[in-house]
Amino acid sequence: MKRIATIAEMKAACRQVTRSGKTLGFVATMGALHDGHLSLVRASKSHCNVTAVSIFVNPLQFGPAEDLDKYPRTMERDAAMLEQLGADVLFTPGAEEMYPPGAQTYVLVEELSNRLDGASRPGHFRGVATVVAKLFEIIRPDVAFFGQKDAAQVAVLRKLVNDLDMDVEIVVCPIVREKDGLAMSSRNAYLTPEQRQQAPVLYRSLLRVQTAVDRGERDSAKLIEIGKQVIAGEPGVRLDYFAIVDPDTLDPVADVSRCALVAMAAYVGSTRLIDNILTTINSQATS
Ligand code: PAJ
Repeated sequence: MKRIATIAEMKAACRQVTRSGKTLGFVATMGALHDGHLSLVRASKSHCNVTAVSIFVNPLQFGPAEDLDKYPRTMERDAAMLEQLGADVLFTPGAEEMYPPGAQTYVLVEELSNRLDGASRPGHFRGVATVVAKLFEIIRPDVAFFGQKDAAQVAVLRKLVNDLDMDVEIVVCPIVREKDGLAMSSRNAYLTPEQRQQAPVLYRSLLRVQTAVDRGERDSAKLIEIGKQVIAGEPGVRLDYFAIVDPDTLDPVADVSRCALVAMAAYVGSTRLIDNILTTINSQATS
């Protein structure tokens, strides 16, 4: 695996791949890799000839009161995992390389950036869209792999690619979970053992919503209430939002007669975790 820290070298390496007629897959990460990240790398390896992975803790997507400084950084362990998995190129730019002094260009996907996590984290999706646009331009991948775990991020990035006519295919991979249902996240490392016991309530609340849908409930307001009650039963967990929306526009939907995104964020102690499901409709229950 080639390790590259400069934009110039990364461009050269990626152009060489593309010019040789090979397909280039790309997985963007902020490191502290877990099986969720690795599932994207595996998907890239099975779809593309060459796989590039980036590790960059992007300061632009963290708010002033957020966890940029304490975000877990485990570069050597991450590199060893990627090497073992057979990633071909690892891009690890520093913050000054990505945002040299004087940089003043940002990418904003206007409306979508204010929905769901964007409503709770002002500026977050501007930071995500800007860094991903830069990474796409540096790497120019044929295919880029993202996790359904960050459903709002997927909507923002699909819009970015569409609106800016970017020649990259976005592939979205399913959420990888711990045995007890907790969605894998680099931020799970912040949880105390007690909080780790409480955290699976996020997924439980989503499963309860799907069960209600299976039993024929379609009304979003009622389903949201059902989900919120499950969260309220775990006193250490404070809900940020619980929403049922269209997965592309992130607009609230009044009912779940079509595939809907049930998305939520909650604080477990001071750690903000997110999770979501796409509802499935059992046609027998609707007739
Ligand atoms: P990060 O949180 O490191 O996640 C990198 C990628 O891994 C994202 O596409 C995310 O959705 C995916 N991922 C995380 N946990 C997952 C899980 N449990 N199952 C499946 N996929 C999972 O998302 C970011 O970094 C950043 O915003 C980034 C896109 C790199 C831009 O800075």
